[in-house]
Amino acid sequence: MSESNTQQTAAGLAPVQAVQADSEGARPLVELAHVEKHYGRLHVLKDINLQVCQGEVLVVVGPSGSGKSTMCRTINRLESIDSGVIRIDGELLPEEGKDLARLRAEVGMVFQSFNLFANKTILENVTLAPIKVRHMARKDAEDYAMDLLARVGVQSQASKMPSQLSGGQQQRVAIARALAMKPKIMLFDEPTSALDPEMVNEVLDVMIELAQEGMTMICVTHEMGFARKAADRIVFMADGRILEEGKPDEFFDHPQSERAQEFLSKILTH
Ligand SMILES: Nc1ncnc2c1ncn2[C@@H]1O[C@H](COP(=O)(O)OP(=O)(O)OP(=O)(O)O)[C@@H](O)[C@H]1O
Ligand SMILES: [Mg+2]
Repeated sequence: MSESNTQQTAAGLAPVQAVQADSEGARPLVELAHVEKHYGRLHVLKDINLQVCQGEVLVVVGPSGSGKSTMCRTINRLESIDSGVIRIDGELLPEEGKDLARLRAEVGMVFQSFNLFANKTILENVTLAPIKVRHMARKDAEDYAMDLLARVGVQSQASKMPSQLSGGQQQRVAIARALAMKPKIMLFDEPTSALDPEMVNEVLDVMIELAQEGMTMICVTHEMGFARKAADRIVFMADGRILEEGKPDEFFDHPQSERAQEFLSKILTH
């Protein structure tokens, strides 16, 4: 999904970030090798090995409690790991300090809950980090934020407070806020699962557009229509392990493990 970055998208919006074609071919932008994590005695990540290439859209599925969120959170070090390594664009994820802040800024994250700053306007939500962390001039940050808000279809809400927006609108602002840092990778942890059904598609449409523009994405989601349409690869997790990896059609039509078969039979019959 790395072509057509210079073209206009379906909705006629200019892409946020042009992804350069890599002359060496696909290279891993995110790499996890032998990652282990415990919460006390609970072994939540077991020998996780995963590579996500530039421009790739990875969808992570699996039963509740299988470690999907924890894995996402280790990628920008919202959670520490016990052993193993995580590299972002070839660089080891630092323990702490300035280097961590720098690498973390390269990974945008959108969570299940709409975690906008409640006491700031929509525009301020989007400009805050670029001004504070990237030291962007306010005017530039505001211009860029307005472009991003237009892109996700909530430009007219810029001066409102988060509580005045619908869940779907708030989640689109959350995506714009993450994009404002010009991340190399976007992580989505069930971004639509707290939404009313009629708002799910407006968020998924923004994600599909991002995917088509070549954004590297890791998405935890149970939206199987989205997964089939946008994913280059599906990862199935259960009990802290990656049990299967494959192309969407392979995984959905011919899951290999009993665990995946059982999982799919449950969600697909709903
Ligand atoms: N901060 C924490 N402290 C202790 N245990 C935790 C913590 N966060 C998660 N866990 C446990 O770790 C396991 C994995 O949780 P995680 O949230 O990663 O699962 P998940 O696959 O995202 O599940 P869901 O689909 O319900 O979101 C679960 O058993 C959970 O209870
Ligand atoms: Mg989760």
